[in-house]
Parts: sequence; structure tokens; C-alpha cells
Amino acid sequence: MKRVILDVDTGIDDALAITYALQSPELDVIGLTTCFGNNTIEKTTRNTLAIVEMAGKSVPVYKGADKPLKRETRDIPTHVHGEDGLGDCPTNEPLGKAEDENAVDFIIRQVKQRPNDITLIPVGPLTNLAKAILKAPEIIPLFKEVIIMGGAVFVPGNVTPYSEANIYTDPEAAALVFASGLPITVVGLDVTMKTLLPEAVVADWRARGTEKARFFADMTGFYMNAYETFQPGIGGCALHDPLAVGVAIDPDFVKREAWHIEVIVEGDETGRTVASSVGEPKVFVCTDVQAEAFLHHFVGRVL
Ligand code: BDR
Ligand code: CA
Repeated sequence: MKRVILDVDTGIDDALAITYALQSPELDVIGLTTCFGNNTIEKTTRNTLAIVEMAGKSVPVYKGADKPLKRETRDIPTHVHGEDGLGDCPTNEPLGKAEDENAVDFIIRQVKQRPNDITLIPVGPLTNLAKAILKAPEIIPLFKEVIIMGGAVFVPGNVTPYSEANIYTDPEAAALVFASGLPITVVGLDVTMKTLLPEAVVADWRARGTEKARFFADMTGFYMNAYETFQPGIGGCALHDPLAVGVAIDPDFVKREAWHIEVIVEGDETGRTVASSVGEPKVFVCTDVQAEAFLHHFVGRVL
């Protein structure tokens, strides 16, 4: 079993990723840390608690960053994730609360207590991880792996022509993380845009008739409509955050190449993840994915 901390900004695809992770026996999710991003930190934390409870699990949730390291928070992407972050589909108010310990301190404590054992999977802005390595740089060599959903290395961005949302939201945090020497795997738009959940799966969920399946169908349907608006005829929605979880479960879902990545923090190309074959440190960039195998695995696990 791989010991995992999932760092989320829940968010519709984050909700799918959390559910997938919690229902995968290969992963021992020891905690979820939250970040602002797809909504405010209050809402992303609330949504995380709600999704954990919906999965019937009691995994602790740690509240983290409420804004980027150095800049103002960008507008909340309500057109992608809804006003509430979960496609405006009602969920029960969570019974549980976030832990008293902050997300950054939780990450530092766990990595120190379990050297070379923790896989961190950040699927939101990289603010919590950046704060953790600023506060305790000695943890850098102690991570087993950091699997990041973020970046658009050899393909266009999804917020600007250059930049992917998680990197764009806190580019200074991303720049720090990519320059740190952490053992990083980048699950960017290069591969996540190849893993589109087909409309037929959502229709199948809806037809199941249970309250939970209907919620997943409505929430994912909202996200799918957003994709259809950006790119008419696309026929599905990208499983960004679930693919990062998939790579933790089975690294063979993807092909990886070692590159040096620099994050642009100024000008029109802010948030761009630029690859170069010279320069250190190197990170592993996912350049291809076995989309069918991953989709089959995800769909079989999530509901
Ligand atoms: C990423 O941005 C967020 O909107 C999603 O949850 C995902 O983590 C995709 O660019
Ligand atoms: Ca996310």
C-alpha cells in the first residue's frame, strides 16, 4: 500500500479524484490537505469534507492556504465548477470538521515522521507544498514522490494560451516547487486532455437511480457542459485530478520523460511550464497515457 497525502482544491474533478483514491486499496490516504483554487478555502474544505463523508470514510482533512504566496487570488472559476465548487448540486452539510492542525504543518510532520514513505499528490495550486518547503526545507529529500496535476508542457494551456489553471493560480509557488529538487512527476494537460470521460458514463450513473449516483451524474454533467461550451463537440470532460491518482496507483498508465522545468512568473506567459533538456533539477513529465486502460480502471472504481 502506498501512503498518500492528497492536496486538493475541491472542485468537481478533485471530488472524483478523492473518491477514486479513497476507493482504491493500493492507496492508504492518511490525510487530505486543502487549498484555495477552484473556490475559496472555506468552500474547498467544506466540499472535501462532504465528499469524504459521501465515500463513507473517516480520513482527516487539514485546511491550508487561502491565497497565493505573493499575489492576489484570481477569479473563482464558477463557469467550470459552479458557484459552490461542486456544480451547484446540493450535498448534505458535512458532519465533521477540519482538524486543528494546518495543512502545511501536517505535511511537514508526516514527511519527517515517515522518511521516504509519503507520496504527496497535489491537484490544486502548489501553495501548501511551497509553504511546507519554505518552512522546513529539510523535508525535500524525505518525500518518496510528488505527483503533481498541473502544467501544460508541450501543449497549450487552459487558462491562457500558455498556462494551466493550477500553475497559473500561484506561479511563484509552482516555480519554487519545480526548482526545489523534489522527486516530481508532472501529470499535465499533455496527458489529462487525452483522458476524457465519455458522456455515456454519466448517463449510466444517472440510470442507476441511487442518490449518490445521481449526485455524481449531476455534478459531472455540469463539468461536462463546461467542456462542451469551451470546445463544442468534445464529447466528454477531462479527468485531470483523477489521472494524478491513477499514476500513483499504477505508474504504467503513463510514459514519462525527464526534463528541467522552469515556471514563468511574469508577463503574458505567466504560469507557463517551459521544458529544457539542459539544466537541473530534472522532473518526470508525463508525455503519453494509456487512456482506455486508465478510464476503464477509474470507471470501475469510482461508483
Ligand atoms: C486543474 O484545474 C482545476 O480546475 C482542476 O481541478 C484541475 O486540478 C486542471 O487545469
Ligand atoms: Ca484541482
